[in-house]
Amino acid sequence: GKDGYRYYMEKELHEHPQVIGQTLQRMVDPSTRRIVLPDLPFDLARVPRAIITACGSAFYAGMVGRYWLEDIARLPVDIDVASEMRYRNPPLVPGSLGLLISQSGETADTLAALRGLRERAVHILSVLNVEHSTMARESDLVLGTVAGPEISVASTKAFTAQLTVLACLTIATARARGTLKASDEEELVAALLDLPSRVADVFGQGDAIRQMARVVAEARDVLYLGRGSMVPVAMEGALKLKEISYIHAEAYAAGEMKHGPISLIDGNVPIVAAVPSGPLFDKTSSNLQEAKARGGRLLVFTDTEGAGRMSAMAERVVVLPRVHGFVAPILHAIPMQMLAYEVAVLKGTDVDQPRNLAKSVTVE
Ligand code: F6R
Repeated sequence: GKDGYRYYMEKELHEHPQVIGQTLQRMVDPSTRRIVLPDLPFDLARVPRAIITACGSAFYAGMVGRYWLEDIARLPVDIDVASEMRYRNPPLVPGSLGLLISQSGETADTLAALRGLRERAVHILSVLNVEHSTMARESDLVLGTVAGPEISVASTKAFTAQLTVLACLTIATARARGTLKASDEEELVAALLDLPSRVADVFGQGDAIRQMARVVAEARDVLYLGRGSMVPVAMEGALKLKEISYIHAEAYAAGEMKHGPISLIDGNVPIVAAVPSGPLFDKTSSNLQEAKARGGRLLVFTDTEGAGRMSAMAERVVVLPRVHGFVAPILHAIPMQMLAYEVAVLKGTDVDQPRNLAKSVTVE
């Protein structure tokens, strides 16, 4: 049942801390605090590159995974949505790592992409929530997201669990490839282990998120912005808003705005931005300043360190706990999903069963 929550989506949003904790328990050795993967049928240290493919939210999780694998494990990564990867015919190096991500393990496009990669001698590692699914049977290795059943059509906890697994996989890959010092590994694992309690703090921002939702609910179009690993987080926010509130939303890399979408901006287009403190903070702030100068209404998610600067320019600010930059995309994804949920509630849509959508898409 819904355990007293109004919708499954609300219940599943509240399961985030527990789900991230359970997923980490599977992958972190409690005594050594090191990442342990199950025995791999191939050698991670010798994989020449990774090909990531998935659909929808799982694809956005894969985009964050690309940032991590490139940056921390120094592994070259190609990524595309599964419905395109199948037909792209990219040159593939045998022995590459095919990384497939799916909540259901039954998505037709992702399954077809898996089979295509397999035929070309790519090792198949799938990140799956349903561990007895078709994709699980056809993979060389499955890393499970321990999210439990996700009933709401819009994905929430499965997405953050996917990110958690990809973060652990990145650390293990980096160690195997010799690109991560032991002390840095400790720091990244500590940041992950700290996440469940930091995520629980996000729910304390419910009122601020509901105030933001009032602005978004009045809009016809909404622009979502971020930089670096916050680009896929912005995409996840925009997708969720479209899915359940039927408001048109588009996500852009903040720096790309001036190459076109800035012409859309006026007082009727709210701009939702994910701007944690860190090396990209100043650049993103100046992009937001440009939007504000054109009448844009800024709705910003930042952290305690960025709060002062953002409060001075934004109409609404949601202040999240400050976390290590590595895990910031996991933390920031949650209020993005909460915002979409609150907007849908204000609009009175059927949150758990949005029109035209099915939980698992088994046609190509
Ligand atoms: C978004 C959503 C969809 C799924 C996509 C992939 O809220 O639910 O975009 O993420 O259909 O589904 P799975 O992960 O089952 O392959």
